[in-house]
Amino acid sequence: MSSRRLLLAANWKMNPPPASALQAAMGDHSANPYHPHSDIDVVVFPTFLDLHKTVAAGLVSGGQYGRPENAGAYSGDISMAMLKTAGCRYVLCGHSERRENHNESDADVAAQAVAGLEQKIHPIICIGETLEERDKGHAESVVKKQLNALPLESDITIAYEPVWAIGTGKTASAAQAQGMHAFIRSLLPKDRQEKTRILYGGSVKADNAEELLSQPDIDGALIGGASLRPEEFGEIVKAGEKITQK
Ligand code: PGA
Repeated sequence: MSSRRLLLAANWKMNPPPASALQAAMGDHSANPYHPHSDIDVVVFPTFLDLHKTVAAGLVSGGQYGRPENAGAYSGDISMAMLKTAGCRYVLCGHSERRENHNESDADVAAQAVAGLEQKIHPIICIGETLEERDKGHAESVVKKQLNALPLESDITIAYEPVWAIGTGKTASAAQAQGMHAFIRSLLPKDRQEKTRILYGGSVKADNAEELLSQPDIDGALIGGASLRPEEFGEIVKAGEKITQK
C-alpha cells in the first residue's frame, strides 16, 4: 500500500451534472459518492456553466480546461485565475479531446499546468498514446515525450489515458496499465517518484475499477462515462474505499 491517497475524478465533459450529485448528502457525506470522503479524494469536473452549482453543493470541483493568461482577448476561453475565483481546486490539462479538438501542444499543456500551479489549483495532466502509436510500438516513446514537457518537479497529478480506451469500452488490462504507470513513475524526478499520483483513465467502470485501482502504481482514476451514472460511480468509490481500508 503506497502512501499516496487515492483520487477519483469524475470528468463530466459536455454533459449536465447528474441531478443527485447536487443534492445534499443528508448528514452522511459518504452516502453521496460525489461528495468529499474521508479516506479518498473525489473531485468532479463539470462544464464551466455548472461549476458554481457543484461548488455551492460542497463538491470538490475542477475546471476541464483553463487558459494561462489571466484575462484578455481570448473569445470562448476562461482563465486559471477565473477558475480559482470560481472555487476550483483542480484543473484538467491536456485531455486528449482538448489536444485533438483544440490542437493543444505539449507546450500549451505545460503552460496550463504552470499557470494552474501559480493560482494554487492542482493540475491533473493527461497523457497517453493513440491506437496507431501503440500498434507501431511507440506507446512508451509518445508518453515519455508528453511527460518530459511537464513541470515534473512540482506537485502535479498525471493521468495516463490511452486514447484508444477513452469512451470506447476498451480498457487497458490491469497489467498493461500497471506497466505503463511504473514506466511513467520511473521517469519522474527521484524525489517525486513516491509522491506524484498517477491516475488511470479510459473506460473505467464498476466492474474493472477494483482490479485497476489495486495496482501498486495506479493511484486513482479519471472517469468519464461511468461518472455520469451515480450508482455506478458509487460502486467505483466503494471499490476505492475498500482498497484504501485494506
Ligand atoms: P471514459 O472517459 O471513462 O468515458 O472512457 C475517460 C476520460 O476521457 O477522462
